[in-house]
Amino acid sequence: MMKKLTILSLFILTFSMLKAWNGDIIVSTPNSSLFLHASEGEELRFGYYGSRLSVNDLGQIRASRNDFNRAAYPVFGTNIDQENAMQVVHADGDMTLDLTVADVEEESLPDAAITRIKLADKVYPFYVDLCYKAYKNIDVIETWAEISHKEKKPVILKKFASGHILVRNDETWITHFHGSWGAEAEVTTEPLTSGIKEIRNIDGARNGLDDRAAVMISLDGRPQENSGRVIGAVLCWNGNFKIRVAPEYKWGYHLTAGIDEYASEYKLEPGELFSTPSLALTFSSDGLGGASRNYHRWARNGMVHNGSAQRDILLNSWEGVYLDVKEPEMYGMIRNIASLGGELFVMDDGWFGTKYPRDTDSAGLGDWIVDTRKLPSGIDGLIKTAKENGVKFGIWIEPENINSKSVLFDEHPDWALQSKHEIKYGRGGTQLLLDLCNPKVQDAVFTVVDTLLTSYPEIAYIKWDANVNLKNYGSKFLPADKQSHIGIAYHKGLEKVLHRIRDKYPDVVIQACGSGGGRANYGVMPYFDEFWVSDNTDALQRLYIQWGTSHIFPAMAMAQHVSAAPNHQTGRSLPLKFRFDVAMTGRLGMELQPSKMSDSERDFSRNAIAEYKTIRPVVQQGDLYRLISPFDKKGVSSLMYVTPDKSRAVFFCYKLDHFNNQWLPRLKMAGLDPGKKYRIREVNVADGDRCYLDGAVFSGSMLMDMGFEAPLWKEYASRVLELTVVD
Ligand code: GLA
Repeated sequence: MMKKLTILSLFILTFSMLKAWNGDIIVSTPNSSLFLHASEGEELRFGYYGSRLSVNDLGQIRASRNDFNRAAYPVFGTNIDQENAMQVVHADGDMTLDLTVADVEEESLPDAAITRIKLADKVYPFYVDLCYKAYKNIDVIETWAEISHKEKKPVILKKFASGHILVRNDETWITHFHGSWGAEAEVTTEPLTSGIKEIRNIDGARNGLDDRAAVMISLDGRPQENSGRVIGAVLCWNGNFKIRVAPEYKWGYHLTAGIDEYASEYKLEPGELFSTPSLALTFSSDGLGGASRNYHRWARNGMVHNGSAQRDILLNSWEGVYLDVKEPEMYGMIRNIASLGGELFVMDDGWFGTKYPRDTDSAGLGDWIVDTRKLPSGIDGLIKTAKENGVKFGIWIEPENINSKSVLFDEHPDWALQSKHEIKYGRGGTQLLLDLCNPKVQDAVFTVVDTLLTSYPEIAYIKWDANVNLKNYGSKFLPADKQSHIGIAYHKGLEKVLHRIRDKYPDVVIQACGSGGGRANYGVMPYFDEFWVSDNTDALQRLYIQWGTSHIFPAMAMAQHVSAAPNHQTGRSLPLKFRFDVAMTGRLGMELQPSKMSDSERDFSRNAIAEYKTIRPVVQQGDLYRLISPFDKKGVSSLMYVTPDKSRAVFFCYKLDHFNNQWLPRLKMAGLDPGKKYRIREVNVADGDRCYLDGAVFSGSMLMDMGFEAPLWKEYASRVLELTVVD
């Protein structure tokens, strides 16, 4: 939010709509509208959220009873028998809110318009600005609340949702994403029933490993990939959250989303402004796929740092050597990735710590000093070797964390979050979270990055990890009566640090990692170029994890690496082609020791990397069409990317089971121009086994309507087909 406000103050042309707004408000994107009733002195009412409306349509919406006409941001107090988005305790102990519309302002940004509805309590000087930011070229509306008051003493915010909408009960289904370490983003799709559904995450420090801060609500029965109305709701926050879908009688559901109030009530001082994170809503009539494509466009437009820049192909050292970082191995890896055509080498964990060397995961975090036993020529030597080999250099850090075995902890034990009780440690039996509520700690974390980047300006990439959850609920910095702020102040502190880093270093590529996909959220992604999808690099399981992740995140932000066989997490051995074909659907990388590969594997990899470079613009910036889900257990899975002008596409398919005389669905494409002809070229051919479609020309309509026989004859077979329009 900090970032938004700064951008706002720089660019905005602000003009108050005065009383012209009195009555109906339509907040629109190219294909969607949110309709609100805002009458001065009355409660703000929610009318409708769906396909785009004009003022002329409002009569029909009302006449057909599609106008909800219920509280848009219900608050606790005069009504206690309904869902609410906000609950407070006023300075005098009173618990009632009754918010009414005081004013409406419109602000125009280059790419969006913000409608700010100013609400004020009828009795207390307590204010909520409800904001709706509608993008001009993307079907996403962000909503958030800015809360302030002028009461005599602090007001306690007990519940403070980012947004609330209403959804009709009419064969309504929900799709959500959940998992755990190594098995992130499992997709569950189920009908909404009469009970309350809550999706929440209480990790405290990362929120992408377990339940994710996103849902898709399908309004026309069981969701389809490319048809049917879908509303998406994604909370842009890195901490604990709650998305709650609660039915009311027969007519519909309240969808409320925001920071989870769990152990987090907030004492708001008079004059202080509390901004909630934003809730990004999307609407699509083109199924789950349409909603995903909307989020991907929005992400590339700014919700992922440098979202339109091409991502490099890299080798990361973790699964190749783990903590056993040594100079000869690092130099060897640099030479190897260069010889395979890669563009970047990243040295993962294990390179630092002197008094407490990082030989195991129980020591060293906090001491970001090169261990010269392992790297006698230091980072300079690595950068020099990378330069000589024509690749860039990147490095792993985990700056929000500390081991109790570190010089930093010896010097500043109070910088770790801790209560008066016995400390509970995380990874390695010694790992703790730093107290980012404390501005001194924020400075220290900023300085870790600043020192690295000023000492070694050639560092092109940082892998920023976060391997512990919030365990010890106590801050030595926050006063006793504000300990409940930790879960929020930590993340606002982190945002400040990230903001400073991005102000000074806009071009360094930074990966968000949180024990795998823990940082897959739009709270932090505006500061990061990409995120590590999962610590599980088994290509078969990755198909599932990436499928789920792709619902909300675009390919160019998804770090996907080819690793060794047998895989280190599952023990499964998969063909190198399959491993590449799975990794190539996102930001391709490798995560193994190339010196252990055979010559033929290296030749295959070299060719695969060269092929990826030719399809990279389509994969990284194209529109995703998911075709057959691995979760549907049809024996195959497929997906494709299409450029916005539909002149190029890349199609991927994979065989998941293998039986004799097995029925497989015919493969149908999507997103092409039905009237155009496309030439097919197979990418990544292995062992001369060329697909029967290679070189053929087909019409877009044939490929989409009739489809073709799956060219997948063997176990773990896979195909990648490039399509180019023929003039
Ligand atoms: C986490 C990350 C891994 C790796 C290790 C290093 O688990 O997810 O990719 O960087 O930390 O300790």
